[in-house]
Amino acid sequence: MKILGIESSCDETAAAVVEDGRKVLSNAIYSQIAKHRPYGGVVPEIASRNHVAKLPGIIEEALEAAGETYGSIDALAVTYGPGLASSLLIGYAAAKTLAQRLGKPLIGVNHHEGHLHSVFMKEDAPTEEEVFPLLGLMVSGGDTSLVLMRGTGQYELLGSTIDDAAGEALDKAAAVLKLGYPGGPIIQKTAEGGNPNAIRFPRGLDSVDRGKWVYKYDRDLCFSFSGLKTSLLTHVKNLDHEPQGQELADIAASYQEAVAEALTMRVERALGRFEVKSFSCAGGVSLNKILREKLTALAEKTGVPLLLCPPSLCTDNAAMIAGVAYEKARLNKACAEPVDVNPNLRLADWE
Ligand code: KG4
Repeated sequence: MKILGIESSCDETAAAVVEDGRKVLSNAIYSQIAKHRPYGGVVPEIASRNHVAKLPGIIEEALEAAGETYGSIDALAVTYGPGLASSLLIGYAAAKTLAQRLGKPLIGVNHHEGHLHSVFMKEDAPTEEEVFPLLGLMVSGGDTSLVLMRGTGQYELLGSTIDDAAGEALDKAAAVLKLGYPGGPIIQKTAEGGNPNAIRFPRGLDSVDRGKWVYKYDRDLCFSFSGLKTSLLTHVKNLDHEPQGQELADIAASYQEAVAEALTMRVERALGRFEVKSFSCAGGVSLNKILREKLTALAEKTGVPLLLCPPSLCTDNAAMIAGVAYEKARLNKACAEPVDVNPNLRLADWE
């Protein structure tokens, strides 16, 4: 079954063709980073205008690279939430129009589900059934969550960020340090040769405080990065100069260490609390070298196997959307066409 996926939830305009949920035949992405860089973050209006301009070409590119045509694909998949309403609408309108014009089914996919599923998007990855129950850490630019995946589509949110996402914290730190956008890769590069223990930045809600709740989640499985951001801002303000060279590397390394440790620490707690067969990490921040090292060390320490997202699928892409759609179709779950976009779509059981 070949599915044409379309993704436009934020600032990546993407289309991909995936065969049987795993075989990525093409993965076309137009990244708008350069358009948003002057503003230090994503500007919704600019994002949606660029989706309008680029999506038709990106869809053609995905079909051509896969050696497919509109006639040869079996179904379409589209991200219908969560994300920026004005961005989601462009991909959704395109997918809906194509589905009606071609007389093919359209499967709506949750963007976060796409990230969680991306760890299975390589041909040698284990099947979902082999690794469930699985503890998933989803670390993207817009969200940070710990999810207990009991089966395909059976998700329980164990903890979530109560303020900023990990990616956002890295993006804001790079802005404070005047390093540019997006922050994650620049902080990682600047941190090379820096001392991760030079400054003890806060880990956010890091005390083991079980029994206290944030909304309905266990407080010590939730994340908070706003205090970390303030702490960096205060640190930089208290310097009487702009940090450069080794001092800048030490700040970046210490900040990156705080983000990676705050994430790993929650995963370790959850692993101690829930019986799982494996754990995973996906989303843009999962590209981070230090985070990957810490999670790999945790897998060795606990003996619980770790599944990491292939680097080409960590940031937003449409292959992961087509991958989830295939699983939904295979298991015959909630394949009704979405009637609209939902910018606040939650990750919940399909049924
Ligand atoms: O998954 P993604 O495309 O965003 C959403 O779906 O929201 O991830 C983008 C985020 C950005 O915040 C970016 O700074 C971060 O991923 N990122 C990284 C790295 N590469 C990208 N963070 C840490 N280390 C990296 N190497």
